[in-house]
Amino acid sequence: MISCVLGISISSNAQDLVKGKKIYDTRCLVCHQADGGGVPNMNAPLDGSSNLVGNNIARLVRIVKGGYSEKIALDGYYYNNVMTPNPDFKDEDIANVLSYVRNSWGNKASKITVAQVKAALRKK
Ligand code: HEC
Repeated sequence: MISCVLGISISSNAQDLVKGKKIYDTRCLVCHQADGGGVPNMNAPLDGSSNLVGNNIARLVRIVKGGYSEKIALDGYYYNNVMTPNPDFKDEDIANVLSYVRNSWGNKASKITVAQVKAALRKK
């Protein structure tokens, strides 16, 4: 039987993305929405965000851990809401949720490792 594969193909590191989705659904979805589209003028979209699929991993790690409210244009738009910090997240949680959002909807980027999270949090 041919099964219907939706979106991402989950293979070797399935666990990371499954855990990441769980974190997303409970801690990020309320603002960034199920489709990653955000809310115009309020919450930045994650689907199609050039920063999110970009190489500044340290910035992404710090945003997830420490929250974000810079009032800087993101892909040309401003968002008024304040992103709340997640100080209780373990390094592994940050790696899993970032791996998930970088590989959901239309996004396709490298996964984030725990080592990358640790390195980002060391250099402040
Ligand atoms: C209370 C609402 C809220 C929650 C909850 C939230 N965010 Fe955000 N997020 C925002 C807002 C608002 C911005 C943009 C802030 C700004 O531009 O000043 C943002 C920005 C971001 C960015 C930067 C996007 C870019 O294009 O640079 C990332 C990455 C991000 N959020 C990821 C997450 C993840 C992952 C979670 C869950 C762990 C999460 N957010 C939870 C509201 C939220």
